Amino acid sequence: MAILVTGGAGFIGSNFVLDWLQQSDEPVINLDALTYAGNLENLASLEGDGRHLFVKGDIGDFDLTAHLLAVHQPRAIVNFAAESHVDRSIHGPEDFIQANIVGTFRLLEATRMYQSELAESVKAQFRFLHVSTDEVYGSLTQDDPAFTETNRYAPNSPYSASKAASDHLVRAYHHTYGIPVLTTNCSNNYGPWQFPEKLIPLCIHNALTGKPLPLYGDGQQIRDWLYVKDHCSAIRQVLAAGTHGDIYNIGGWNEKSNLEVVHTLCAILDELSPRTDGRSYKKQIVFVQDRPGHDRRYAIDATKIEHELGWRPAETFESGIRKTVQWYLDNQTWVQNVTSGTYRHWVDKQYKK
Ligand code: NAD
Ligand code: TYD
Repeated sequence: MAILVTGGAGFIGSNFVLDWLQQSDEPVINLDALTYAGNLENLASLEGDGRHLFVKGDIGDFDLTAHLLAVHQPRAIVNFAAESHVDRSIHGPEDFIQANIVGTFRLLEATRMYQSELAESVKAQFRFLHVSTDEVYGSLTQDDPAFTETNRYAPNSPYSASKAASDHLVRAYHHTYGIPVLTTNCSNNYGPWQFPEKLIPLCIHNALTGKPLPLYGDGQQIRDWLYVKDHCSAIRQVLAAGTHGDIYNIGGWNEKSNLEVVHTLCAILDELSPRTDGRSYKKQIVFVQDRPGHDRRYAIDATKIEHELGWRPAETFESGIRKTVQWYLDNQTWVQNVTSGTYRHWVDKQYKK
């Protein structure tokens, strides 16, 4: 038995693959197109590990995915592959439509063909888990209750609209073709190996290199932060015990304004790696022009996954953010390879092997 993971060289996908292989010996076929966000360096510790098979390719390549499914006969697919950065989706939505909508559609088509040809014994076990986001539910006001699985979809950015479309396709393939799907809608993740264009790694990197810490607008937008390894454990749990066709919201019960997050980062950095002039990193905070259509608040009600599957996050925001800052301090070479673009050469070299 094996599982097929897509997007397993990205931030959450690589954490998931590492986590999976720490927990079990079940092999992972890792299909990733290695866009700018894919970094095989994240998986360097798996070099020579026969349980991990990396395949460079696009989930939108029907022939490739059909071939991988036929050859490896995975008992599950976990679909992380996507364009994932809201700001990039504002500047160039096309890639998001291709990867997130067309890509998911083609992967579902290959799955449909695979599923129809599966032996009954394997068919009974097979699952397609689609990893999605809380951003599909749109923006909350300060007083709104947190998102539950029955909230109406109201995506506001090209990114969230493309993820919403992919969620709808996944749902339709369950209802129409009986594909045993599971969908997870998770809040903002943070932790090791996050590309430093997202708020938390960007601010850690900018703080340490003496650059401004840019907060959009008034910095009072709220996100519900989850440590990435908790997201991985939730996905494992949904894959193991979730009900076919169901949606599971995943969140850390950690609503924080962006300003609070950056203040926390500054305080931890002041302690662990103080500025040479003795002043706080808070001095580097600047308020910059807001993101167009910026959602004000996201919050996840994670009651269903707790009640039905017994999952709760292991980390508080305080423990997870401290681990994250420490990780970035300990892995400055990784950060430098990403910010200088060297990781692309590393990927080329590694892939040629
Ligand atoms: P990421 O951008 O770090 O990684 C995405 C990975 O997918 C990269 O390795 C990239 O090379 C690969 N990829 C992109 N298009 C592809 C394609 N067409 N075919 C194959 N591979 C492709 O993203 P992430 O933050 O790790 O997010 C992973 C998933 O989790 C996404 O589906 C995202 O919507 C979802 N999600 C992310 C967050 C978050 O806070 N980061 C929160 C909730 C849900
Ligand atoms: P981000 O990490 O891009 O995730 P998302 O937009 O998917 O929630 O941003 C998290 C929050 O931080 C979001 O409200 C936008 C804000 N933000 C800034 O204020 N400054 C920045 O430089 C970035 C990248 C994000």
